[in-house]
Amino acid sequence: MSQFSQTQRVRAVDLARFKAEGRKIIALTAYHAHTASILDPYCDFVLVGDSLGMVMHGMESTLPVTLDMMIVQGQAVMRGTRRALVVVDMPFGSYEASKEQAFHSAVRVLKETGAGAIKMEGGSRFAETVAFLTGRGVPVMSHIGLTPQSVNTMGGFRVQGKDAEGEHRLLEDAVSLSEAGAFAIVMEGIVEPVARRIATEPKVTAPTIGIGASAACDGQILVLEDMLGLSDRMPKFVKQFGSLRSQIEEAVTAYVEEVRAGRFPADEHTYRGSSN
Ligand code: KIV
Repeated sequence: MSQFSQTQRVRAVDLARFKAEGRKIIALTAYHAHTASILDPYCDFVLVGDSLGMVMHGMESTLPVTLDMMIVQGQAVMRGTRRALVVVDMPFGSYEASKEQAFHSAVRVLKETGAGAIKMEGGSRFAETVAFLTGRGVPVMSHIGLTPQSVNTMGGFRVQGKDAEGEHRLLEDAVSLSEAGAFAIVMEGIVEPVARRIATEPKVTAPTIGIGASAACDGQILVLEDMLGLSDRMPKFVKQFGSLRSQIEEAVTAYVEEVRAGRFPADEHTYRGSSN
């Protein structure tokens, strides 16, 4: 370890300890240095999610997001954090072709951002890739259930685990990814009984992180802009803990009024001469 590192960050392996201690794992997404710095003291991990394509860039899905975009925002979030584990999403097309492709993309992310882990969507069919990466020093967080990168093959953003076949497949996904070495598994949009079954399955030793997958999970994550009330489209599983959209509108309206009325900038915002 560098003699200059002053703060010990949460590491991927620490999440298993939090689960063993029965302490809920807390996570939110961030794409920017300033929001990441606000979350840093409170979150065990901050996810630089590929949801940034939709949330920051107004894209219709996460599919157009590139590895370069993830790396730029990963660097920003690393600059804004000192203690939380930073996990960077692998975007669509950067890991599916082969385990070697996944390794090269993941190494770019870890080297160029300094993040502590990557996240990859997909179930059992990616277990071999997860084992390949973890065996070569890349901590992998898996993501199952409603996986937005599969929107075209799923036929939309659909809640998962509604029938016996879906339940069986999700359980198999979680067991195989956990056995392959995933240090945590994000479970998105999964009905409560199935999420509970997976979260309490002894063969699933990896901590489960829920987003629309009930309180049975070992931890929870939400997209920051959703829980702050900034996003305009909100899934059922989001609770709005803030109302930033209306606060921003209020502030912008006040600014417009004051500029129009000539009240802003006032004296205290004005450089009068060489003394100030
Ligand atoms: O991209 C993202 O923000 C995510 C979370 C929704 C888990 O994957």
